[in-house]
Amino acid sequence: MSNPQDDARPVSLTTRQGHPVYDNQNAKSVGPRGPLTLEDYQFLEKIAHFDRERVPERVVHARGAGAHGVFTAYGQVGGEPIAKYTRAKLFQEAGKETPVFVRFSTVVHGGHSPETLRDPRGFAVKFYTEDGNWDLVGNNLKVFFIRDPMKFPDMVHAFKPDPVTNIQDMNRFFDFVSLTPEATHMVTWLFSPWGIPANYRQMEGSGVHAYRWVNAAGETHLVKYHWVPAQGVRNLTQAEAEAIQATNFNHATQDLYQAIDRGEFPEWELRVQIMTDEAHEELEWDPLDPTKLWPEDRWPMLPVGKMVLNRNPANVFAETEQVAFGVGVLVDGLGFSDDKLLQGRTFSYSDTQRYRVGTNYLQLPVNAPKCPFASNQRDGQMTYGVDGQAQGANPHINYEPSSRGGLVQPVRTRGPEMAPRVEGVVGRQAIDRPANYLQAGERYRAYSDAERAELIANLVGALSACNPDIQARMVDHFAAADPDYGARIAEGLGRKVAIAAE
Ligand code: HEM
Repeated sequence: MSNPQDDARPVSLTTRQGHPVYDNQNAKSVGPRGPLTLEDYQFLEKIAHFDRERVPERVVHARGAGAHGVFTAYGQVGGEPIAKYTRAKLFQEAGKETPVFVRFSTVVHGGHSPETLRDPRGFAVKFYTEDGNWDLVGNNLKVFFIRDPMKFPDMVHAFKPDPVTNIQDMNRFFDFVSLTPEATHMVTWLFSPWGIPANYRQMEGSGVHAYRWVNAAGETHLVKYHWVPAQGVRNLTQAEAEAIQATNFNHATQDLYQAIDRGEFPEWELRVQIMTDEAHEELEWDPLDPTKLWPEDRWPMLPVGKMVLNRNPANVFAETEQVAFGVGVLVDGLGFSDDKLLQGRTFSYSDTQRYRVGTNYLQLPVNAPKCPFASNQRDGQMTYGVDGQAQGANPHINYEPSSRGGLVQPVRTRGPEMAPRVEGVVGRQAIDRPANYLQAGERYRAYSDAERAELIANLVGALSACNPDIQARMVDHFAAADPDYGARIAEGLGRKVAIAAE
């Protein structure tokens, strides 16, 4: 790769006000030894801007790498026209292209933390569709630790460093997890080699939640999204990850940037699992539960399109840092399910982004839709333009309805709005079919011997640093998932084998 720093074309330096900077080496002083003068606007402006160079990091997923690309639809799903299931325009025609911006990330630690840590990886895709933006904000693993959004801030606090020592502590992690039985499945993925993807290009993605699709007749299905890398999947053992980390803490960002830079564009196929839109009482588990996956033998992975990443961001801060993905950002034909974790996320993302990036974060080029848009939202910090001007809207009329022109509600032409019927008692309540250990046990038995050995070694290693009561509770969870699982962890920790049942 050529060194990007080597491009030596000179361009004249100015201030942000457009004034030429004839001397960028010396602040204006009284005599060569100072003091400095307050009239040196050029210096004050430069330092004042520098003082504000950082915005708050993402509270989670702070360390990330981004890229631009394109999504190409196949126009069908499972041998049928995709219109049977969804009217979303981006999927309809074979060969239809939609620009995307993708951000991969680690979760727990800060903006420059090592990329070799055992941690879920974020896989967030912004589709700039002709109907507005669609954000699919997923992870590499297909399930999650918890199923109720009320628990998320506590979970994140337990996973992040101790507020007094500033050290991440497995006692905190497993204290929380051992009191959260629904996390057993996710932990069984996370401590296997799947918990450290080799890089971002050889990693899967998953929307995790059940979403909904709606067709032109208003009929709905439940759907799960998955990204499958054309590069294949590669994970690291703990020892391999430690060897990389000894010399390089940016290896995944570097791998992605350099591959795109040399024209080796990474590619993923988008596959979906489709289920009828019902409670599916016949299952032992709830299809809306994000701690469960839908077994592929019953709900096959059906390809619907592919995505190629072909351009590095021109600037990391402007694009990768300020990009704002939101779980509530959907287009016509796509919808939510009643998954409670998903609904809690829907509030959280845009809320944090109004704070993290600013009120007008949607005016930034990386976040703005690429289709025409016109709202009556006005003002606020850093307002960059007035919506609707490009389409010739009357700039005086910033309200609706109005008899004086201005923006009008478009007429719905695409079929009825998704209108699920819900009924129930309002209250704080857990789901009926938790089945906390079922898929953890299935996963444990599905691993190869080598993956199982690595899982046991990693868990024993991490739990060895934990207090005995926490170890005991974790052994109980693993034994409930599979007696052999519990026995091997107990043996590794030098504990008596626990017999527990759900
Ligand atoms: C109630 C549960 C959750 C809450 C409240 C939550 C909240 C958040 C927040 C506040 C951010 C920072 C966003 C920003 O500053 O731009 C974030 C980032 C992210 N979350 Fe979640 N999260 C939850 C669960 C999940 C789950 C289940 C997944 C995966 C399916 C996920 C994937 C991501 C990803 C990929 C990012 C980074 C997006 C980016 O690259 O900008 N989160 N989350």
